[in-house]
Amino acid sequence: MNIQIPDHISAIKRYQPGKTIPQLQEEFGWEKVAILWNNENTLGYSPKSKDAVVNAYDSINYYPDPISADLREKLSERIGRPTEQIVLGNGSESVLMLTIRALCSGDDEFLTSGGSFVIVYNWARINNVRCVSMPLTESYGFDLEAIKSRINRNTKIIYLANVNNPTGTMITKAELGDFMQNVPDHILVIVDEAYFEFSESLHKDFPNSLEMDYPNLLTLRTFSKAYGIAGVRLGYAVGNEKIIESITKTKLTFEPTALAQAAGLGALDDTDFLKKTIENNKEGLKYFTSELSRLDVQFVPSYGNFIMTVWKDQQEVDKVFNELMKKGVLVRPLAGSLEHCIRISVGRPEENEHFIHSLESI
Ligand SMILES: Cc1ncc(COP(=O)(O)O)c(C=O)c1O
Repeated sequence: MNIQIPDHISAIKRYQPGKTIPQLQEEFGWEKVAILWNNENTLGYSPKSKDAVVNAYDSINYYPDPISADLREKLSERIGRPTEQIVLGNGSESVLMLTIRALCSGDDEFLTSGGSFVIVYNWARINNVRCVSMPLTESYGFDLEAIKSRINRNTKIIYLANVNNPTGTMITKAELGDFMQNVPDHILVIVDEAYFEFSESLHKDFPNSLEMDYPNLLTLRTFSKAYGIAGVRLGYAVGNEKIIESITKTKLTFEPTALAQAAGLGALDDTDFLKKTIENNKEGLKYFTSELSRLDVQFVPSYGNFIMTVWKDQQEVDKVFNELMKKGVLVRPLAGSLEHCIRISVGRPEENEHFIHSLESI
């Protein structure tokens, strides 16, 4: 094959999917399974979102509304920001990728922290943008001082995940306010709030970046976590009209799909399901923290729907991961970034107990 692949694409390591759950089930013959590796909503999804998707299927022969007018209108009412400040995409991952594509060129740099959401580094590199990562603090949080000190004339975007995945640490309202005051306004600060609905229920002072008035702040939110519709892919960004317009120009014409738009409309109607999800998460995190303390397992206090445990080294992590896998407990070892750590998502009570009992037996 004689076609030249650009160096910045050749250098990317492809996402390596593991075995599927049915393949693993066949291999291990589990009686019980706890799927706690992707921070998904294991309570399921809202029946209202399913009804909306089933209805929308009747029009599946037509292209979707390219501007998601109904969903943007409903979101606008919900979050108190005008529709012109909202753009939707195939998950917040897509909106993040589009933001980099829309804003960066030449020597522009993407500045963030190591030990954050693994996908962001790749999206910068795939778009041929230099990605600069500062180390996490000793307590596994974003080091905002270090990030500020690394700003240079090429810095175009700063990415903050609040809460951070996988560490579960939060940036407080005062810290975020202070950071925004000090970052030059020609740099876009992306605040990724994928876990916002959980975080605001877990800490009274959790910052809602949608209430902060900075033209260079872009908030990312998703329907994949608290709303339980990760499989249909729906996320959005909220920010200054000019930024949103540029992101809109770069998105696929008919992104997100008609089924995703319908699922989102249905999900927003179901406050009961959202409440149940948030309550289940609060209880699950409380259970994890008390049981992990009892078992003397080190962990980082979390404000998301997952918790990060800290082990001696990667060898110990591999052993715990493999033993849990044999018992049907699927968790996420953090090889490549925090190789001495394992992240566990909060599941249904019986899944959480299965994890703790399995860990205790190991
Ligand atoms: C911090 C963070 N941002 C974004 C996402 C991706 O969300 P989406 O499913 O909307 O692409 C995740 C998913 O795990 C995440 O942890």
